[in-house]
Amino acid sequence: MPSKTIEKLQWRYATKKFDSSKNLSAAKLNILKETFNLTATSYGLQPLKLVIVSNTDLKAQLMPLTYNQPQVRDASHVLVLCIEKNIDEDFIVDHFKRVANTRNTPRNILEPFEKNLIASFTEKDTLEIRDWMINQLYLTLGSLLTVCAVENIDACPIEGFEPKKYDELLGLDAKNLASIIVLPVGYRDESDFFINLKKVRRGVDELIVEIN
Ligand SMILES: Cc1cc2nc3c(=O)[nH]c(=O)nc-3n(C[C@H](O)[C@H](O)[C@H](O)COP(=O)(O)O)c2cc1C
Repeated sequence: MPSKTIEKLQWRYATKKFDSSKNLSAAKLNILKETFNLTATSYGLQPLKLVIVSNTDLKAQLMPLTYNQPQVRDASHVLVLCIEKNIDEDFIVDHFKRVANTRNTPRNILEPFEKNLIASFTEKDTLEIRDWMINQLYLTLGSLLTVCAVENIDACPIEGFEPKKYDELLGLDAKNLASIIVLPVGYRDESDFFINLKKVRRGVDELIVEIN
């Protein structure tokens, strides 16, 4: 029997043409918000934010900043996946306060780990921390794409955009955020040429190395 999960993954594709008359319900959008929050991150620090654009005029303004890719104009919502501009000691301390509050763990039990983490981040340079944050953000992209497939939501991951111009238009600098990936979500236009194209993949035999 074919796997339902694999069927869903076959169904999903990088949507080129969205039906601009169809919008995600609040319930569906909420599933994507929860997915973003529930995705695993290194140390659980979540150095990320998800900016959600639904305003029609703003979405249209994003198109020229996205090398004229129409998905950002026509999709129901444009998810802009962002990293924090910087992670300082306070950010890490806040995380440990949250752990202590959520799990009723005494701070002195957490303290050695907390101190270690602060020391290790102090040793890293800005670019190293930025790369680490971007790695965490791509994990959320994977989760979002898979959950979209399971929930019959169409999506198109987009790296082809001008991050600095997005940051300016959406006021992300002031929020201490930097945009990294864009993910328009919504529903496919049935006339999208790409709907029926076969998936091009190297194949399981070529990609998987089994060592028994
Ligand atoms: C990180 C990332 C960035 C991408 N950027 C773009 C993009 O800017 N525009 C676009 O149309 N597709 C983009 N894609 C879609 C890929 O081209 C597509 O996922 C790939 O060809 C496989 O096809 P499928 O997703 O339809 O199975 C991107 C995909 C990923 C994962």
